[in-house]
Amino acid sequence: MSRIRRIVTAARGIVRYTWTWIQPVPDSDFWSRPPDLPNRHDAYAYAWPRSFLLVGLVAPRLPPDARILEIGCNVGRNLEALRLAGYRDLTGVEISRDALDAHRTYYPDSRARLVQADVTRDPLDLPPADLVFSMAVLMHIPPASEEVVFRKMATLARRWIISIEDESPEHASLLRYYPRRYDAVWPSLGFEQVEERSCADVPGLGAEYVARVFRRGAG
Ligand SMILES: C[S@@+](CC[C@H](N)C(=O)[O-])C[C@H]1O[C@@H](n2cnc3c(N)ncnc32)[C@H](O)[C@@H]1O
Repeated sequence: MSRIRRIVTAARGIVRYTWTWIQPVPDSDFWSRPPDLPNRHDAYAYAWPRSFLLVGLVAPRLPPDARILEIGCNVGRNLEALRLAGYRDLTGVEISRDALDAHRTYYPDSRARLVQADVTRDPLDLPPADLVFSMAVLMHIPPASEEVVFRKMATLARRWIISIEDESPEHASLLRYYPRRYDAVWPSLGFEQVEERSCADVPGLGAEYVARVFRRGAG
């Protein structure tokens, strides 16, 4: 192949790849079948350091028989990390069928219950959990849907909520990013913050992310 033809082929590939990322599709359609490589389930299956952060927040607070629900679990790596830490009652909700189908390929010993649902639209017909958590998920829920999603999570959370989300206002201009302060969100729904931690040192997250632990208030 001539040099010019190679350059044209490479340029076409870059344009096509960029278009898959920026094309104007509704957020739910994008996440149902993400066309870009960084958001395919392969990319999430081995991102263990961020799961270790989660386990470090959960283990001091919840016993192994606690019921735990993850919103936006993707391939379910966080659920597997919790299973390896001794937790048995694990449920994940996720919009992407492909990601859920890959769960037992990656983690054959998992017994996690997986539910395909769009949390912005579908009712979450699940029993309440001791802990409801999300990691890098609520930051992709658009403002028009935030109230309904937060209320569903607050209703399902018997005692604990953990948010590990991008809160950087500078990222508000990015496509499909809706950063917000979760220390304002969960207290307005009856939870008090008991821990806050920067994720600057966590590979796969970074300084824009804040991990926050909330406990249901007495009222
Ligand atoms: C950035 S990924 C994070 C995945 C996983 N929590 C982790 O940290 O590895 C965001 C996840 O949220 C899911 N998601 C986005 N919008 C959703 C919705 N409306 N309902 C259910 N899941 C959704 C995506 O499909 C994707 O798996």
